[in-house]
Amino acid sequence: MKTYLIAARSLNNVIGRGLEIPWRVKGEQKLFKEITMGHTLVMGRKTFESIGRPLPGRDTVIMSRRNNYRQDGCSVAATLEDALAIARSLRGDCFVAGGGEIYLQAIPLADGIHLTTIHTEVEGDVWFPDFSEQAFELKREVRYRSNKDYTYRYFERVKRPGCKTI
Ligand SMILES: NC(=O)c1ccc[n+]([C@@H]2O[C@H](COP(=O)([O-])OP(=O)(O)OC[C@H]3O[C@@H](n4cnc5c(N)ncnc54)[C@H](OP(=O)(O)O)[C@@H]3O)[C@@H](O)[C@H]2O)c1
Repeated sequence: MKTYLIAARSLNNVIGRGLEIPWRVKGEQKLFKEITMGHTLVMGRKTFESIGRPLPGRDTVIMSRRNNYRQDGCSVAATLEDALAIARSLRGDCFVAGGGEIYLQAIPLADGIHLTTIHTEVEGDVWFPDFSEQAFELKREVRYRSNKDYTYRYFERVKRPGCKTI
């Protein structure tokens, strides 16, 4: 199983305002659907509650530290390690779908990042974490025209030959 992050951010790196995503961009959700369909989504409890339901055609693992947190049709994990172990038993690859807290924890474990940049600056209070340009290599870039233009990029983790200890 591969582990990917998937996110959309503004030019100033905002991904959310309160529980909402502070833009409406035609076509951008379709891209998310195409990339994640048939796979497993891992998301924080706040992101799940802002969506309000498991997304069709995908398995959902919600991360929460709350005791006895349950949502119909979803798995719940109390740690990132548990979330990834559960995802391994579910379908396809694992797509970490936010929000800010979960991206930050999952970035060191990601094999790749599907990152869409919306060509606008917005106010918000949740951001996509900085990630090392050295650890990831840009593999694909597609620009889309819409009510707000956006650019999809796929970054893959750079595989370095392991260092042997003597
Ligand atoms: N633009 C995008 O692509 C995108 C994608 C997704 C979300 N968003 C936005 O991001 C915002 C939400 O992000 P957020 O950072 O506020 O919240 P979040 O990451 O969605 O959820 C945070 C919650 O996850 C749980 N959690 C965090 N770390 C955990 C761990 N190690 N183990 C178990 N549970 C853990 C906790 O739940 P409990 O409190 O239940 O313990 C925590 O309160 C919203 O504005 C949303 O719209 C944007």
